[in-house]
Amino acid sequence: MNSKACAHFRQNLIDWYDTHKRDLPWRHTRDPYFIWVSEIILQQTTVDQGLSYYYKFTNTYPTIFHLADADEKDVLKLWQGLGYYSRARNMHHTAGIVVKKYNGHFPDSYKELLELKGIGPYTAAAILSFAFNKSLAVTDGNVMRVVARLFAIEKPVNTTKGLSEVNKNLSHIFDTKQPGTFNQAIMEFGAQHCKVHKPLCNSCFAKDYCKAYADNLQFILPLKEAKTKTLDRYLFYFIPLFVENNSLCTYLNRRTAKDIWQHLYDFISFETTRKTSPQNFLKSKIFTQFLADNSIKRSAIDFYISKLYHHKLTHRHLHVTFISFVTPPLELGQPYIKTPLSQVKDYPLPKLLENFSNEKDFNNFCLNLLPVR
Ligand code: ADE
Repeated sequence: MNSKACAHFRQNLIDWYDTHKRDLPWRHTRDPYFIWVSEIILQQTTVDQGLSYYYKFTNTYPTIFHLADADEKDVLKLWQGLGYYSRARNMHHTAGIVVKKYNGHFPDSYKELLELKGIGPYTAAAILSFAFNKSLAVTDGNVMRVVARLFAIEKPVNTTKGLSEVNKNLSHIFDTKQPGTFNQAIMEFGAQHCKVHKPLCNSCFAKDYCKAYADNLQFILPLKEAKTKTLDRYLFYFIPLFVENNSLCTYLNRRTAKDIWQHLYDFISFETTRKTSPQNFLKSKIFTQFLADNSIKRSAIDFYISKLYHHKLTHRHLHVTFISFVTPPLELGQPYIKTPLSQVKDYPLPKLLENFSNEKDFNNFCLNLLPVR
């Protein structure tokens, strides 16, 4: 694209945005706290789904001080369903730092923002351009698609080389006089007009110079390099059931491992990388050892097994079986916590368990399942 075409795109993009932009709450604020919250949520989900989380989050924590003061468990609960809980943990942590180190005011320098947990180059550029009108381009998926098509970039955009070519070409069309508006506009143009599957090329103001359109590549670009292979994991969740203070109780496990479910709650779990039937798992050494360690007599227990549940994560396919057993109260120590079954759903749970705990028969599920001996 020559410089005249670049200037045409810059001007017409802003005109297009003025006419077509959606009325979104974070577009009415320059407060970096609200902008930060919206950007982290939008890294996780679509605008339509993100809106309710945005309202929930900003109503519950109307300022960064409220978020910093919150209990991490409540923040994770609010985030439930969005996935990638590390983002919520990082937000909570970063709120504490911004309050302590910067008196609750987000720094307006790229370097200082990048030092905050969960703020990478994308989020830093978004905060700086939207809140402080600094001249930085944001390169999210929508922006990459628009630029890859306009300039017919054939390198995969999820590689270092592809991304640097996108950024180089983006700098040719970027509007340094109104960076915040330009960034919002190009994201919106990607989301609403230069769409993934059905780009609206016929009515596009850029069709005279869009290189992908000229070469009929608009349905092919942008290219992405294949992702790493997904792994299958087989999980057995154990739900001991016992009565205490007149309520049916079980144990929840507060996860501490530094993985995507850190600080979420689940049940006592065992994992295998090979497909194993529940019957075989119940006979396995690892499980027999668990029973012995907790003075649970195998012969005195009926186990009840659920159907097999499947759940897809980015690089993992989980195959999950729930197994319950009725037992006298157990004395399991940390990280297990005794919980009435009716309160399980109040804890921040991985999506899979959230779905399971909302099932109609959850409270009674041991009555509905098949005993295994
Ligand atoms: N996606 C990421 N950030 C966005 C924003 N500020 N507006 C709309 N969609 C977005």
